[in-house]
Parts: sequence; C-alpha cells; structure tokens
Amino acid sequence: MIHIEVRTLGAPRPRSLAGSRADTECAVAAAHTMLRCGSRHTLGRSAARRCAARALGVPERSVTIDTGPCGEPIVRTGAGRTIELSISHSARLAVAAASSTGPVGIDLERVRATDVQHSEWAFSRSERQRIARLPVPHAGLWAWSLKEAAWKAWRLGTGPEDVCLTALRVTAGGVASRARATSRLSRLLEDDAPRTLYVRARPIEGPDGSYVLSLARAPRPNTPAAA
Ligand SMILES: CC(C)(COP(=O)(O)OP(=O)(O)OC[C@H]1O[C@@H](n2cnc3c(N)ncnc32)[C@H](O)[C@@H]1OP(=O)(O)O)[C@@H](O)C(=O)NCCC(=O)NCCS
Repeated sequence: MIHIEVRTLGAPRPRSLAGSRADTECAVAAAHTMLRCGSRHTLGRSAARRCAARALGVPERSVTIDTGPCGEPIVRTGAGRTIELSISHSARLAVAAASSTGPVGIDLERVRATDVQHSEWAFSRSERQRIARLPVPHAGLWAWSLKEAAWKAWRLGTGPEDVCLTALRVTAGGVASRARATSRLSRLLEDDAPRTLYVRARPIEGPDGSYVLSLARAPRPNTPAAA
C-alpha cells in the first residue's frame, strides 16, 4: 500500500524593499528565496514523517527522516521495519509518499511553460518523438515529472539518460508510462530491485494553480507493468 501526503506552504513573507539599494535588494531577495526553499524542505519532511508513520502504524514522533548518500530520504524508526519513502516540492506544495510494498517515487511540478520536451539531456530521441505525439498541453512537463518520479524510486544519483520512458500514453486521469532502467542503471541496482516501474501522473490543484503529481511504483505482482 502507498500512502501520500500533500502539504501547502503558507504565503511567503512580504518583501519590504522600499528605499533599499539595488545590491541590498538582491541580498534580501536571495534570503527570501532561501527561506521559502527551507520551508518547502521542512514541509516535505513533515509530510514524509506523517505518511511514514501511517505506513508503519507507529506514532509520528517515533519516525526520523534522514538523507542518504545520493540525497534520497531514509526512514529511521525504532521498530526495525523498513519502508520506502519519496519527497517532492514545487512552488507552494510539498508531497511525500511512503510504501510498505516496494519502491516508490513521487514528483510534483507546478504547471508552467517549458521547452524541456526538446532537451537532448532530459530525453532520448525516441522519448522526444513519443512526447510530440502525446495529445496534452505541457506534454514535456508531464513526461519530465514521470521520469523524475521513476528516477527517485530507484534512489540513485544517475542522470535522466538512465531512465527510459516507454508506453507513454494518456489515461482517463492523466498520463502514464512504463519506466525502464538502462543496463548501466540496472548494474547499480540491488538484485531484487525491479528494472521496470509503472508511473502515473495526474493533475492536482494548488492554491496558486495546477500541478502535475507523478507516482512511480513497482508493477503489482502478476500484472503487466503497463496494465
Ligand atoms: C534529486 C533531484 C531529481 C530533485 O529534483 P527537484 O525537482 O529539484 O526537487 P523535488 O522537490 O522534486 O525533489 C527533491 C527531493 O528529492 C529527494 N531526493 C534527492 N535525491 C534523491 C535521490 N537520489 N533519490 C531519491 N530521492 C532523492 C529529496 O528528498 C529531496 O527533497 P529534500 O531533500 O528537501 O527532502 C534533483 O535535485 C537532481 O539531482 N537533479 C539531477 C537531474 C537528474 O538527473 N534528474 C533525474 C531525472 S531522471
């Protein structure tokens, strides 16, 4: 079972820059950006603690979230049981997902204009062709979110070229795909880790507009990955 928790960030502090010099303005603006990012991080960790506690059936206060060597979140409890955890934040929202049944990856993107669908760094040629055929606005952003969710589920520090989106398609609730690990990534994964994940993205509304929320998980036993 996968538990998901969404949190909304409060309004950012108003900037009072009247009368300040340009260089001071930059410093103040940067400080505000850091405050907002810091809050998003905290909000994501708080969402993660909550859904980890739900997945483990333990009180929230007994859950600690640490950071692994590749930046991945790690759950520590006194209970001895382990679960998989993933965190994402974008603009005014933070989300976390916890799974007691295998890998999980989550990604959140505020819907915005982007040309990521043309990026050779982000997508292979065949992925770019599949994205071009996807009949949804912001198709590149959807695909990027799917890819990030799968990448996080594998929890390694490799690049987007090691995650291949196949069977990219529109579904009733959004967009879905299989994500396949390249042979290079496969060699880095544990023997029992799935080499193919099922990724699904759907729209959610935030206080400041629409977001894409993607969730990657292992295919359920005895079902094809793209079912
Ligand atoms: C890790 C990365 C993907 C995060 O993406 P992002 O859009 O900046 O930020 P998100 O809010 O979606 O995710 C951030 C969270 O990802 C998690 N994360 C970081 N590294 C991770 C890893 N190796 N595996 C799983 N999760 C990871 C962390 O929990 C982090 O939040 P926190 O540190 O505040 O708790 C990004 O920082 C990165 O390294 N990009 C490199 C580009 C790349 O190769 N991306 C993969 C595309 S396939």
